[in-house]
Amino acid sequence: PKPLTPPRWKALKRQGNKIAMVTAYDYPSAQLAEEAGVDAILVGDSLGNVVLGYDTTVPVTLDDMILHTKSVVRGAPGTMIVTDMPFATYRLGPEATLRNAARIMQEGGAHAVKLEGGADIAEEVRRLVSSGIPVLGHLGLTPQSLLQIGGYKIQGKDQASAERLLADAKTLEEAGAFGVVLELVMEPAAQQVTRELTIPTIGIGAGRGCDGQVLVYHDMIRYGSNIREKRMVKSYANVGDTIRSAIAEYVNEVKNEAFPEERHSFLPDEKLDKLPEK
Ligand code: KIV
Ligand code: NA
Repeated sequence: PKPLTPPRWKALKRQGNKIAMVTAYDYPSAQLAEEAGVDAILVGDSLGNVVLGYDTTVPVTLDDMILHTKSVVRGAPGTMIVTDMPFATYRLGPEATLRNAARIMQEGGAHAVKLEGGADIAEEVRRLVSSGIPVLGHLGLTPQSLLQIGGYKIQGKDQASAERLLADAKTLEEAGAFGVVLELVMEPAAQQVTRELTIPTIGIGAGRGCDGQVLVYHDMIRYGSNIREKRMVKSYANVGDTIRSAIAEYVNEVKNEAFPEERHSFLPDEKLDKLPEK
């Protein structure tokens, strides 16, 4: 496949084709996502939570994002890769924002960056876009502000908050963003934003009206030991259970001397790269 481009995103929306995104953080997850046919991969700073074990996305650094982006790009060379700009790396003015985004593109190899915020970062978005860096917006619940917000709260509940969301979304579109993620937004508010924009909305916990969806890899396949059930997530597999029982079986077989067997062993005159017949 060939990576999607920002103009293709708008065309998909015009044609009424839904966009399916998933996060990925390393080489094998990216390979599998590409083979499964996702439209784009997000190297999300949810990396901090699901891969690095932090409580929030705040500790994730630019170098973390670049390292993981590199491995994802190698795993999914035919897929559009969007990388999150981590906490505060786009909050020190357009110059610093451009410098940091340029590292994500040049060192990481991403095709686009994602920033959390609306009118407050319009200038930064404009600077990136005019420098040739495609920008995906992110509105609604913005996890980098979790310490300020005080927890996961549904956004767009009342008229005022829905209007602010719409105004921010329009500002991002005007600033040149090619799409906008809507996280944890009431369905009617997300529907309204979707109707009024020409760029696609990508929902996560934003109901049925969006132009596309994004899910966190580890949530979608329950990859981890304590992936919490979340209402907005659908689990399509339980890889955590599969991995745990596979490892437990291995441990057991080592203790019981059931592994390795003769066919895993090298006897005189056998070649290293030739597996014996069972
Ligand atoms: O970091 C992330 O995974 C995200 C998605 C949840 C949109 O920002
Ligand atoms: Na994120």
